[in-house]
Amino acid sequence: MPDDSQTPSPRLAAPPIPQWTPAPRELDDLDLLVKQAFSPPLTGFVDPTTVGAGSETGASSITLVVSAETAELATGTGQLDLIDPEGAPLARLTLTGTWPADGGRVGLTGPIASLGDNEFGPFRRLYLSPSEVHAEHPAESLVAIAVRRPLSSSDIARINESVGERGKTALLLVCVGYGMAQGVSAPALVRATKTAAGHLERPALVVAAAVAGRGDEAANRWLLSSVGRAFASETVLLDTASSDSESQPAGLPDDVAAIVAVDRPPRDRQGVVFFFTGLSGSGKSTLARALMDHILEQGDRTVTSLDGDVVRHHLSKGLGFSREDRETNILRIGYVAAEISRHGGVAICSPIAPFEATRAEVRRMVEQAGGGFVLIHVATPLAECERRDRKGLYAKARAGLIPDFTGISSPYEEPTDAVKVDTTDRDIAQCLDEILDALITEGWLRS
Ligand code: ADX
Repeated sequence: MPDDSQTPSPRLAAPPIPQWTPAPRELDDLDLLVKQAFSPPLTGFVDPTTVGAGSETGASSITLVVSAETAELATGTGQLDLIDPEGAPLARLTLTGTWPADGGRVGLTGPIASLGDNEFGPFRRLYLSPSEVHAEHPAESLVAIAVRRPLSSSDIARINESVGERGKTALLLVCVGYGMAQGVSAPALVRATKTAAGHLERPALVVAAAVAGRGDEAANRWLLSSVGRAFASETVLLDTASSDSESQPAGLPDDVAAIVAVDRPPRDRQGVVFFFTGLSGSGKSTLARALMDHILEQGDRTVTSLDGDVVRHHLSKGLGFSREDRETNILRIGYVAAEISRHGGVAICSPIAPFEATRAEVRRMVEQAGGGFVLIHVATPLAECERRDRKGLYAKARAGLIPDFTGISSPYEEPTDAVKVDTTDRDIAQCLDEILDALITEGWLRS
């Protein structure tokens, strides 16, 4: 008898555990979950349809939503690996349930196990877990201060009062999650807080926590209290800034104000995206060029043009004019423009960008990068664009030779959040002056 005990028995290969990169807010929530930084404790992402309202408004926002396809794969294996945008594994979710999310996507619930630390990002060494802090400072000895904006002199006095008399230590919990810092970037908030800590009467601890902002202030406050409680027996929530405007917050110690000033220069020195939108032939490219030349003549800014037709020759080569391809095109432009604004440059974009939701997404991307965003609607009416028909495209579109043509067989959603200029019967200089007036009034350009 041949000995076949050496032959491996045919085994069905287990399907690989699917992977998913959570959105920025979800990645921050994941960081807090892994660090066990919620109190009462949370072991994983929740189902908002079963977590109640009221005191749990914040908990109900700690959700993870994936594509329907990924949800199906995760249901098959019972697990999902969450990876960072560069592909490094962060945590494994063991699936215990799903819930229907918007847009046909699926929410997943289940406990989380860490697969590795998120090692990168400014001040990462300050992202401590409550247990790491408690190894040296018991929760009873700490008062957590949830810091979302640079600390003013009156904040400092208040913190001295909260800790001083009882001999406690202030734990300055810098809330650096996505969209939480007010008035400055997250790294500048850490720098400002470390500097402000130097003004306290007693030594303080500075710890960064990835508490991400929600649209809803009640949910924000729930989260800040919950994370504060995980670190300290007492938590102080400071008032929030009245607005995230360009004006510098009042009452900052000089050295804190200097950090804010470097991080948030005045508008006319800040990175900014001037985003022209309008029909083909409306005059976007011409006005965008004229604005670019004006800024270059002034000479103190770097300017990059991202014109619709030009972008389609390189960055978006090969894309067509379906809704999906147009969205991809505009998001690419938005990505590049946001990076330019992050570095303090001026990006002048001039695609048609017919969809409100995509324009709003670009605005969000740019603002998240710390840049300003101004939408300029070149509102020349369709009849005038068609009369000009410089490229002969409207005639072809009317003849049915070009499908999905904006204004003819594809929609243009009029913006309501834009500087508006109509080029009908007006020369370029007049239109440019109108745009310059608006930009100078808003502080984006110097006169
Ligand atoms: S967008 O909708 O994705 O913002 P984009 O500005 O890049 O459009 O490109 C518009 C330019 O492509 C127009 O100025 C025109 O020259 C050309 N074009 C070709 N086909 C179409 C079409 N179906 N709809 C609109 N513009 C088109």
